[in-house]
Amino acid sequence: MASPSVLFVCLGNICRSPLAEAALRKAAREAGLDIETDSAGTGNWHSGEPPDSRAIATAARHGEDITGYRARQVRPADFSRFTTIIAADHQNLAHLQAMRPALATAELALVLDLVAGREGQSLTDPYFGDAAGFEETWADVHAAAMALVDQITTES
Ligand code: 4NP
Repeated sequence: MASPSVLFVCLGNICRSPLAEAALRKAAREAGLDIETDSAGTGNWHSGEPPDSRAIATAARHGEDITGYRARQVRPADFSRFTTIIAADHQNLAHLQAMRPALATAELALVLDLVAGREGQSLTDPYFGDAAGFEETWADVHAAAMALVDQITTES
């Protein structure tokens, strides 16, 4: 697989997709790969805000500083700028399919499609839960990021 550029999308862009972006940045760096990655939300309630403090703390525990990330809403140009747009859950995926421009080139997928045995599953939204939920999110997005890096290194 040629090196993809990857946009992760969740609802608010303050919990799941920033953690997915951080996990892929970390996995790519450790594998010596240059992968363009970003994240966005289907909603705009948190646009311009940093990630949720619990997401920042979780990323920091895993060695990633995401304090500089700022939430933004997904836009039509993302469908030609990125080769792959990866949704956190089925609701996000349905939103992306509905707004996908006719001439879009990006492929759409669910983040857990990358993880063997978890295909078709949604990432649990940790926003209304506790810190343990954010660790679970990290474990899931880390597994997905490692699988994506593995695919790229073995297929290129
Ligand atoms: P995220 O989590 O989609 O993983 O960033 C949420 C963030 C904010 C809200 C819901 C989920 N909210 O309702 O504001």
